[in-house]
Amino acid sequence: MSKTTFSIIKADVGGYPGHARVHDELMEVAEKKLSESDVLINYHVTHCGDDLELLMTHREGEDSEKIHSLAWDTFQEATEKAKELGLYGAGQDLLSDAFSGNVRGMGPGIAEMEFTERKAEPVVAFLMDKTEPGAFNYPIFKIFADPFNTAGLVIDPSLHPGFRFEIMDIKENKKIMMNAPEELYDILALLGAKGRFVIKRVYPKENSKLPADEPVAVVSTEKLYQVAGEYVGKDDPVALVRAQSGLPALGEVLEPFAHPYLVSGWMRGSHNGPIMPVSQGDAKCTRFDGPPRVLSLGTQVKNGEFDEPADLFDDPAFDNVREKSADMAEYMRRHGPFEPHRLPMEEMEYTTLPEVMDELEERFEEL
Ligand code: 13P
Ligand code: 13P
Ligand code: MG
Ligand code: MG
Repeated sequence: MSKTTFSIIKADVGGYPGHARVHDELMEVAEKKLSESDVLINYHVTHCGDDLELLMTHREGEDSEKIHSLAWDTFQEATEKAKELGLYGAGQDLLSDAFSGNVRGMGPGIAEMEFTERKAEPVVAFLMDKTEPGAFNYPIFKIFADPFNTAGLVIDPSLHPGFRFEIMDIKENKKIMMNAPEELYDILALLGAKGRFVIKRVYPKENSKLPADEPVAVVSTEKLYQVAGEYVGKDDPVALVRAQSGLPALGEVLEPFAHPYLVSGWMRGSHNGPIMPVSQGDAKCTRFDGPPRVLSLGTQVKNGEFDEPADLFDDPAFDNVREKSADMAEYMRRHGPFEPHRLPMEEMEYTTLPEVMDELEERFEEL
């Protein structure tokens, strides 16, 4: 049987209100557009915060012009609706007027993987708002390389060989393949610098029972401010992770989110704050435009088909994480404009600091 491709393509084409969430009418536009397409096997339209998310399965492979143009046209139509409704930042993430075959580098975020379906194929989509691709370093590392998170790395012979990480240097536009567990310390030396080095994909090892060239996890890594040459919106990331039968179990895939770790983004893309795992109903950003949220939708793919996804953080088992995240948000907020709540100068997205520095320049005296 031919391989299946699972694609998430997402963009912020207007918020309601402010940067809080997506208006229902934008999702209706997307729903209608995707329902009319004959290239998709199945799809699910949703949102995390103000990001419109298209989850799609098909047989066109990664970087397919048909799929990318469908997504692009959908975002264009949703932008028209957003303008009509006067939504905030209509068309925010569509940086180019002309589509040229591929949405990579044009603003939308993309996570796609083509793979040979196993007998049962659990796939989890993670959708984040108010943060950056590096926010996935911590959980993806833990899922595929940390034995304190993933028991299977120690006790399941099929996971024991470990995994290969494709890590991008998003400033230099380079990538490197690294092996876990052999190179754990070096991998962490890079991944801890999450504003620069980000996990792009995870692959099985050569001796795994899964095909070594088919990814088992992928993260969107498009950097909007580098694409546009200036800040136009935080590059809120998404990821896809496959689970079970030679891969981490579903519960091992969700486990890193039991800790509300700190990520960069939040208000004006310029603050550190705790991630909050939420249900679909709570996937809206409020307090100080946050705190940054992560939504987790799980499904089983069969011949490219999938049912209505399960809302995995809609669960009292994550209530205490949300409570802790809210407490941490309060703790961080008390710092106001002070680092490390506010990001260091060079990482801030919206910033008047260069202007302030220019104005004060003459008044600085040599010591
Ligand atoms: P405005 O200056 O339009 O309010 O935009 C800033 C913003 O939205 C930061 O979240
Ligand atoms: P988004 O990137 O989600 O549009 O948020 C922008 C922002 O500045 C929120 O304060
Ligand atoms: Mg927005
Ligand atoms: Mg957003």
